[in-house]
Amino acid sequence: LYGKQRCNSIGLNLADPQVLEQVKQSLNKLAHKQYQSFPLVNGKTCTGQTNSVNAPHDNCHIVGEVIYADKTHVSDAFDAAETAFCDWRLRAVRERADCLLKAADLMEQQRMELVNLCMREGGRTIKDALAEVREAVDFCRYYAVGALKLFEHPAVLPGPTGEVNTLKYYGRGVFVCISPWNFPIAIFTGQIAAALVAGNTVIAKPAERSALTAMACIRILHQAGIPESVLHFLPGKSSEIGQHLLEDSRVAGVAFTGSIDTAKYINRQLSDHPMIVPLIAETGGQNVLIADTSAHKEQLVQDAVFSAFNSAGQRCSALRVLFVPEETAELVKQMLIGAMQELRLGNPDDVTTDVAAVITQQAMHQLGKYVRKMRADNCEIYQLPLASQADELHSGNFFPPTLIEISELRQLRSEVFGPVLHMVRYQSGDLDAVIDSINASGYGLTLGIHSRIQGTIKKICQQTRVGNVYVNRNMIGAVVGVQPFGGMGLSGTGPKAGGPDYLRRFSVEQAVSDNV
Ligand code: NAD
Ligand code: ALA
Repeated sequence: LYGKQRCNSIGLNLADPQVLEQVKQSLNKLAHKQYQSFPLVNGKTCTGQTNSVNAPHDNCHIVGEVIYADKTHVSDAFDAAETAFCDWRLRAVRERADCLLKAADLMEQQRMELVNLCMREGGRTIKDALAEVREAVDFCRYYAVGALKLFEHPAVLPGPTGEVNTLKYYGRGVFVCISPWNFPIAIFTGQIAAALVAGNTVIAKPAERSALTAMACIRILHQAGIPESVLHFLPGKSSEIGQHLLEDSRVAGVAFTGSIDTAKYINRQLSDHPMIVPLIAETGGQNVLIADTSAHKEQLVQDAVFSAFNSAGQRCSALRVLFVPEETAELVKQMLIGAMQELRLGNPDDVTTDVAAVITQQAMHQLGKYVRKMRADNCEIYQLPLASQADELHSGNFFPPTLIEISELRQLRSEVFGPVLHMVRYQSGDLDAVIDSINASGYGLTLGIHSRIQGTIKKICQQTRVGNVYVNRNMIGAVVGVQPFGGMGLSGTGPKAGGPDYLRRFSVEQAVSDNV
């Protein structure tokens, strides 16, 4: 792959009936497989409290069990990772990169196992799960190639005759990688791959809800040649091990993806650390799509519905608020409702499912509480009737796609993480006020624009402080190396995952002036 034109993982074409049949057969074989995940420190399996994991689409379906790490495991993992760092930081960059390339190939080979886990544990639909495997593969290849470009040869800098000046990159030390449940393969693997290839050793802490899937990724990275002393795995309760992971004197950096509240907590913890510990935080969004009167309405509605309800709205990038000009608002609203009525709720292994279950019963109840509150506040609400859907939905955490009309963005206090789309009507002459309200929210992750007027598109792009802008298309599913992904403000510190600057943040620089 090195030196060749980079291309993204191809994945599987589910539109081909033969491929679909093969996928179904593979998943059928794995449908009842039980998985286990446990703390893995220096390659050793640790014991501890055992917890069973049920599937979001069927609470009676047990996927496996997770053994939680405790504070002793944290300390043991730091001991081993710190010791291994001395060797790993000096390994040839190519050797580290080769491990990632091998991991990418293994992920493609073991794709169905990963998909099965991601569907059953994480509730991701087949299509989403396949896309996740592709994204994880892309991260591994992109960072492998990027590391060679950045780190393999020291940069030679100018200097007076007789003096050789070079700049070289090294790993920082032990990186703690903390990831969310909603991208249990891609984000989990992406953070770790970047940290490892830059020369860090890693302690990986998956989300409580995605430890089984994460464990499969760890297995693949070890199989690909990442030494067990270099990559440690600590599934567990954040309330039990979170603080210990952050306060250890040996933590050299934290890569975090998750909610803004947790990012702020981690930031506070690190501010008390004896060292100055860099934090890469990627968090949530209050993502808006602005349509103007020139927007192509059919395309707008299709993109809005896909961006809001794909993955049951459980994407940081998902559309949360659609701004529509007063002139077309009623028509667009009716078209949205019509498109929502076409959505099919169902089990994740059914390729026709548009919206699967939300991650936990608690998440489902919180969404219900939120909608009841908005109704009590006199918001107009359309909710897809669950009765129109299949019977099987009763045993899972299904929440119906919901459209809520609000009068202004300020009404939303925090991210609503589920299949809930808000709509705001605005006066066409008030675009500046719309832009101001987006910036005032403090969030800056994704933004959609539907307009045929170049001046409007340019103005919105220039004046909104958001990380990823999508024009006349949907606004989810950023592709590695194509749409480097990450926000600003409350939505994240940067650098963007899958972008050219990501790896640098995982490294330290050393300048050597040699008066030969
Ligand atoms: P979360 O903040 O609850 O948890 C994220 C991770 O942090 C988990 O591994 C969790 O165990 C850990 N954690 C929680 N409290 C901790 C503590 N006190 N100490 C140490 N670790 C702790 O988020 P979530 O519910 O898992 O994920 C959903 C959130 O993630 C949403 O807000 C979503 O927008 C965001 N997200 C952002 C991106 C992005 O790229 N910007 C991508 C995916 C998800
Ligand atoms: N990178 C993910 C997306 O774009 C979060 O949907």
